[in-house]
Amino acid sequence: MTPTADTAPLCLLADIPDGNAVETEAVIQGEVESLLIYRSGEEARAYLNVCPHAGRRLDYAPGKFLVRNGTIICAAHGATFTAESGDCTNGPCREDRLRAVPVSVVDGEVRLA
Ligand code: FES
Repeated sequence: MTPTADTAPLCLLADIPDGNAVETEAVIQGEVESLLIYRSGEEARAYLNVCPHAGRRLDYAPGKFLVRNGTIICAAHGATFTAESGDCTNGPCREDRLRAVPVSVVDGEVRLA
């Protein structure tokens, strides 16, 4: 079942390599959405897996993201985003941002907030 705010966790924090991201799906405002879940230490951030440039997915293969030194790189045309904030720092959608999805980490589980 696809997680909603009231149901199962999105993933376990331990399933995300520190400084990297995984993909999962969740129901957001009634729609099943693909999410990028980024881990930084004991914290997690989530964004819709949609690039603000042309609406393409950020991953180069399902669930495989380019994340280096705190920067998420869109696989389509190379826009770069600060993983901590989702702000675009370079590329065709500079000054735009990823759409954040509020999440929290509770007992090692990443959940919709
Ligand atoms: S769709 Fe991401 S940079 Fe173009």
